[in-house]
Amino acid sequence: MKALHAAAATPLNLQFCRSTNHHSLNPPFLLLPPQFPPLQTPTSPSISLKPGTRFSSGSAIKASMAAPTPSTAVETKPFAVLFVCLGNICRSPAAEGVFRDLVNKRGLDSKFKIDSAGTIDYHEGNLADPRMRAASKRRGIEITSLSRPIRLPDFRDFDLILAMDNQNRADIIEAFNRWKFREPLPEDAHKKVKLMCSYCKKHDETEVPDPYYGGPQGFEKVLDLLEDACESLLDSILAENKHIFDS
Ligand code: 4NP
Repeated sequence: MKALHAAAATPLNLQFCRSTNHHSLNPPFLLLPPQFPPLQTPTSPSISLKPGTRFSSGSAIKASMAAPTPSTAVETKPFAVLFVCLGNICRSPAAEGVFRDLVNKRGLDSKFKIDSAGTIDYHEGNLADPRMRAASKRRGIEITSLSRPIRLPDFRDFDLILAMDNQNRADIIEAFNRWKFREPLPEDAHKKVKLMCSYCKKHDETEVPDPYYGGPQGFEKVLDLLEDACESLLDSILAENKHIFDS
């Protein structure tokens, strides 16, 4: 990790990571392996599903054999939230930790799938930055996730994709526009992409600033913004998806 951080701090890599030049956006996405699982679709046309429900693998087999009633054939799909920043070692793993902590405190862990990713794969497999983990730990939040890049199936698997800043958002949308020609993706999946700070109630900032090259106060600021945004993000998801959370 230390060696990687030192390397990442060079101007060359900074330019690679932060440039808005589109050439800098292509390599991370082009490097992704083609490991995309096939689409899974329900097999029984006679069963109508509420939005937010899906077949479990076992029930799909039962459905083809005995056509059970919907109440035994379906299960509520957890609401899936993906947090995305540039490197997936500072802001988005912290957002994942803060949001998971809130969800756990409200006893809703089984109703959510929560993950985070980066728009580059430079730190893939690494734990979050030690400064981010230490700042979070002081607030009682453990960050345990390993960095990974955003992937094509994320646009199918997640209901909401939260970008930390405008550049992250633009990179996510650009990836979607490229990947949708490679494999079928929901036509409106780009509408799942929102800015994290659009959920802030106590702060006026529109972006979660990148703390990587700054001092300790930057990490505290990230957590202040994330705590604010995550509170109302959770409230908004609960209010808009009662079919998942009332069952
Ligand atoms: P993050 O922060 O996007 O919040 O994870 C950064 C992590 C790494 C780099 C830049 C920002 N980097 O240049 O390697």
